[in-house]
Amino acid sequence: MDIAAYLRQQKEHLGEESQKVKDFSVFDFNHIPDQPVMREECKELVDEMLRFEISGIPNHHAIVGSRGSGKTLMMKFLQRVVEAQTSLDMLYVNCRHQNTSFRIFSHLLGDKTAGASLTELYERFLARYRKKTVVVLDEVDLMSSKDKRRDILYMLSRSEQPYMIVMLSNSPHVLKQLDAATRSSLQPVPLHFKNYDAEQIHAILRDRALRGLHAWDEGTLAQIAALTTRMTNADARVAIKTLKYSVTMSGGDLMRCFERARRDIVVDMVNDLSDANLMILWAIATSPSDLVKEIYKRYCRFSQDQREKPFSYVYFYSNLSYLQSVGLVGLVSTKVDRTYTNRVLLTCEASVVASLAKLRFEQN
Ligand SMILES: Nc1ncnc2c1ncn2[C@@H]1O[C@H](COP(=O)(O)OP(=O)(O)O)[C@@H](O)[C@H]1O
Ligand SMILES: [Mg+2]
Repeated sequence: MDIAAYLRQQKEHLGEESQKVKDFSVFDFNHIPDQPVMREECKELVDEMLRFEISGIPNHHAIVGSRGSGKTLMMKFLQRVVEAQTSLDMLYVNCRHQNTSFRIFSHLLGDKTAGASLTELYERFLARYRKKTVVVLDEVDLMSSKDKRRDILYMLSRSEQPYMIVMLSNSPHVLKQLDAATRSSLQPVPLHFKNYDAEQIHAILRDRALRGLHAWDEGTLAQIAALTTRMTNADARVAIKTLKYSVTMSGGDLMRCFERARRDIVVDMVNDLSDANLMILWAIATSPSDLVKEIYKRYCRFSQDQREKPFSYVYFYSNLSYLQSVGLVGLVSTKVDRTYTNRVLLTCEASVVASLAKLRFEQN
């Protein structure tokens, strides 16, 4: 087919597509629906915030739930209603983008902070936010290892001013990593967002379809919901993306749309990893042996090649369990020469990991 014919064909196809789609923004992961599907766990948080509004005494919270379980959406939606209906301030920061305490304060202050010390920023924060304030720290597990102690948690939880911290994370790991002093002054109440069931995913999809599509088939929505709950950790993103592909990919059967959506999400997940974690995953993906000790040696070699100091074995191991908790690898205990050790299984495609790692590390 020549270019002109191809262009004509694609144009026709896009025409068909826009006949099916009313509003593409429903496929955007940042889209905030007017009426999100309710999560029971949110009630507890709402109650806590209302109590905090009255008493000024915060109970900090740590919300853990797998990817696509609606943590971010629920906080953004709560921010809307809480600010409209209570006297609380609610601040939201994503620690993926603001990945140190300094950057978080700086972001929340929104003005020039170059040259200031962390303590100075904290004092400016105290002066700026005098009201009862809920501080949401999304993806707190992605804070940089430069800020291992996550000072902001310690500072805010020790403050005499009324601040309630809500941290969100895909991995329960972050709570274990907090140092003892922070943990004891924070004492976060753990709140677990359970994985959605097929019915809830179906409801989420129906809501998007109602708003964004001209016509759809309930059977297809149910099938997507079933696939998503059966074959991912009920990741609503995979479901939404599958729906998108099912209306925009010509001739794609549902399974292909689903596989493609799932692959996209893995790419996002791997790209989100810190350099060190990606390096570990890269070692796993390319190692001829799946034994932890062998992988550690390989990881050390990779780090040295990048002129990075490798983690100690203990710290390496803790990053490995992080990768496990976000669902990229599995650890299986096994007996080798009469002692127990772990085998590491990659749960995504090795070729995807290898090519993303090359992109990141072999550029410079
Ligand atoms: N209860 C819900 N109602 C409507 N849409 C939802 C719901 N939960 C999740 N979603 C949608 O699924 C996608 C993933 O949700 P998100 O909040 O980003 O998950 P997480 O932060 O837990 O990884 C987003 O596009 C979000 O709008
Ligand atoms: Mg999120």
